[in-house]
Amino acid sequence: MDRDPKATPRKINHIGIAVRDLEAAIALWQGGLGLTVQQVVEMPERGLKIAFLPCGEATIELVAPLGEGSEISKFLDERGPGLHHLCLEVQDLEAASQAAEDQGLRLIGAGPKLGAEGYPVRFVHPKSTGGPLVELLGKIE
Ligand code: CO
Repeated sequence: MDRDPKATPRKINHIGIAVRDLEAAIALWQGGLGLTVQQVVEMPERGLKIAFLPCGEATIELVAPLGEGSEISKFLDERGPGLHHLCLEVQDLEAASQAAEDQGLRLIGAGPKLGAEGYPVRFVHPKSTGGPLVELLGKIE
């Protein structure tokens, strides 16, 4: 059966990189690699500070902990800085989540959360994807 186009990823929205030191990471990605920081957002409720560096249609997001017990702390402690997740953009998040579950993939959490980009997101468990944490982002256009 063909997948509903609304449940089909249409682009990589962003790639999340876990970092300990946001200023040092910005210096690397901006000065070293030539991207430009568009904005830096603090999300105290999730314990995150995120720098957004657009690259074509996608964005590199540098995700740093904002204090102790942040959402990214466990990852940094266990695996160190590096690639954290990639985000696929879909038109219909609910349909995409359902399609993934129908295919046997395990989604994290009971329902969508609001992502740093201001759109609803869901995460597919890395054990379901052979390694990478995959974020699905619903954006109606
Ligand atoms: Co993300």
